Amino acid sequence: MNDTNSFTLFEHTSRQLRNLCDEAGFPPTDDTAVDMLRELLGAGGERRLSDGPSWPSDVADDATPVEFSVALDDTGENAVRVLGEVIAEKPSMAANVVAARRFLDSVSDRLEIPTDRFDAVQDLFLPEQPQGKFAFWYSLIFRPNAKPKLKVYFNPGARGEDRAAELVAEGFRRLGMDEAYDSATEHSVHRPGQDRFTFFAVDLDDSPTSRVKLYISHYSATVEEVVRASQAVDGLDVDSIRDFCRVLGGDTVSFDGRPLISSYSFVDADPKRPGNYSLYLPIRDYVADDAEARERVAEFLSGRGSDPAGLDRALRALTDRPLTEGRGLLAHVSLRLGRFGTGTTIYLSSEGYEVLPPRAGTRAATGV
Ligand code: TRP
Repeated sequence: MNDTNSFTLFEHTSRQLRNLCDEAGFPPTDDTAVDMLRELLGAGGERRLSDGPSWPSDVADDATPVEFSVALDDTGENAVRVLGEVIAEKPSMAANVVAARRFLDSVSDRLEIPTDRFDAVQDLFLPEQPQGKFAFWYSLIFRPNAKPKLKVYFNPGARGEDRAAELVAEGFRRLGMDEAYDSATEHSVHRPGQDRFTFFAVDLDDSPTSRVKLYISHYSATVEEVVRASQAVDGLDVDSIRDFCRVLGGDTVSFDGRPLISSYSFVDADPKRPGNYSLYLPIRDYVADDAEARERVAEFLSGRGSDPAGLDRALRALTDRPLTEGRGLLAHVSLRLGRFGTGTTIYLSSEGYEVLPPRAGTRAATGV
């Protein structure tokens, strides 16, 4: 428990979101992000943190149903994002789906968000009794002075892990991207049981850069295995992938904790070949504590010519606890490469319900 546990979930997370938006230069009068967060959390937002989670959301390790991320584009622009699971007042897998659809109806109406892609694949990924850890999640994407964007993540294992490949291939087909499945998996799905479909995601907007994305987790993978996975996209700077893994992974040779994840982005104008590749590294499993994670991310950002001061401001927007006292505030870091834009994204936990302890017997404990 932390000292803010008399707060409600909405109070806690909205304060963090407001701070992040302030840091990213959003106009202070703009309540759009906080209003959307309130709607996403629904009645569950009014529960006290001290009452614990009403549903074991897999969005974050401590079951908080939201996770923040700050996307740092190499162009200097930033986005603040919220990954979130809508949880029904009386939660169950089926009830959460109903509540999450209601959220989409309301938000798409109000913000004129096109839902065609969602409509095209929803019956595929949302059976009556979805299997796995989640049915679908949202990403709410905020940029200063712009209309919020929405992205939906589906679970390829919703009809059982053994049908994941079939669902993904059919999902692409329904979206007019018949060849996307083969081009995304050709370099990335080789090790049975160890290269697994994690998310099938669709941007809900009709801009030319609106993407359909496939995420593949690589269990116990080495850097060269993800370099190979990146080769579905032509002309990438593979050295930056090696650098990313080396700096953020420390001495890790085989990533045997939570997996490295690849994602491939497709757009309507080029439905056969992915235009972007992203690599996600679950840094919390490869460090002793958040101080070590912060050092590594700062080093990586400096190496790419970005100012790490923004990282520190983002961390302080969420919490003032000492970074040595927990692990997982920095949950993932991703590197985006390709024609649709390059950059680094840092995924930050809300720690609403719990601060996970540093790893025992490592440098935090020995005081090194
Ligand atoms: N908590 C889950 C995990 O760590 C899902 C998740 C949340 C995730 N945010 C993510 C996965 C960012 C990859 C990247 O696997």
